[in-house]
Amino acid sequence: MSSRHEAVAHRAAVRSGTVDSGPEFDRLAGMTLWRPYCQMRTVSEPLHVVAAEGVWLELESGQRIIDALSSWWTVCHGHRHPHLVEAIVDQAHRMPHVMLGGIDHPQVVRLADRLAQLMPGSLNHSFFCDSGSVAVEVALKMAVQFWMNRGEPARKRFVCLRHSYHGDTSGAMSVCDPDDSMHRHFRGFLLEQYPQEMPVDEAGWHAFAEFLAEVGGQCAGVIVEPLVQAATGMRFHSPDQLRRLADLTREAGLLLIADEIGTGFWRTGKRLACDWAGVVPDILCLGKSLTGGTLPMAVTMATTEVFAAFYSEQPDHALMHGPTYMGNPLCCAAANASLDLFEREPVAERVAAIERMGREWLTPLAALPHVREVRCRGGFLAIETEKAFDRKKLAPLILEHSVWLRPIGNVMYAVPPFTITPIELRQVVDAMAAAVSANA
Ligand SMILES: Cc1ncc(COP(=O)(O)O)c(C=O)c1O
Repeated sequence: MSSRHEAVAHRAAVRSGTVDSGPEFDRLAGMTLWRPYCQMRTVSEPLHVVAAEGVWLELESGQRIIDALSSWWTVCHGHRHPHLVEAIVDQAHRMPHVMLGGIDHPQVVRLADRLAQLMPGSLNHSFFCDSGSVAVEVALKMAVQFWMNRGEPARKRFVCLRHSYHGDTSGAMSVCDPDDSMHRHFRGFLLEQYPQEMPVDEAGWHAFAEFLAEVGGQCAGVIVEPLVQAATGMRFHSPDQLRRLADLTREAGLLLIADEIGTGFWRTGKRLACDWAGVVPDILCLGKSLTGGTLPMAVTMATTEVFAAFYSEQPDHALMHGPTYMGNPLCCAAANASLDLFEREPVAERVAAIERMGREWLTPLAALPHVREVRCRGGFLAIETEKAFDRKKLAPLILEHSVWLRPIGNVMYAVPPFTITPIELRQVVDAMAAAVSANA
């Protein structure tokens, strides 16, 4: 018998109770929670968080620490904001869930109308789902089928940017940087796309235009994280670069997909990062801050031109997608309440203040010999160092400074809630500085 068959037989025997599982098997069997993005064998003990309010997380030990990451960039209004909590509780009493196929409800209709009002140009059409990755999947399917419905079925591929991150599902992974270590195992499984460097000079723009002319006929669109490529280490490009990319995309006759899952809803200081460049994409992905970090929801928005390509008498021109929890009423209630806060609160001013203070306080660190760059854009504050940070070594410093930090490789960063006070932000910056000093 092959060792694989033996292993399968052994597992079956363990399950049926006919053999002793052994201490190693028992140890593994006890690890019921499979954690994200980590080697389970070597990962350090997580922080045990039992409550959250405003910018603060409360640990099991009673210690309170600042959530400098807004829990993966979602909690823009602060944790447990009463307006969001009330909206969710109220909706839970009425109707926690109903399917969206063949049914709608006031919260989802209102949310679609409000997003159409809020977003630029004719981005009027909202397709809801439950995560950013799926919003990107929908955007890719939408772009491919847009061309199919218009009689151009060969356009099935995408131009994407080096260092981009668009999510962890297959389509989304395929438009991430293929050399990024995170998804490299899946080469061969994923569809090959056309990753390109974001041009930085005239020669680069010329090459980019030539490339689009060469491959454009096979492509449905260009996908970009406008201004901030966050998950691969807070890499920024300028509004001018974004504008030129959008112009070349248009000139090549391709659809522009803006993935604003990280940057949308004032995280860069404006409604959309695209607003800094005066760009209106054909397809827009939003998530994270949409529900203010309360419930999982994302949306793919299309312009009326894109929507029109699906609107016909032909059944097979329909967009065949529909996640089970699409348009979930609790999520919609949270998103509507989050939009209330974006309307009501001085979010742009708050983000501008975070950027101003962050820049002022972090810039001196640029003089350290092991610091490559300090960069701040809106609510994204980052310090890139020569050497990767060791998250295990960072654990005591996090507790000492009472600030939750989780660097990406050699980039220490903060993406705090918009509601952070100057004193709290100073505490975050001091913790970042201490972490950077310890990483010399
Ligand atoms: C730009 C961007 N796109 C897509 C995603 C994936 O979103 P989710 O984790 O909700 O699937 C992320 C997550 O960080 C992101 O930053």
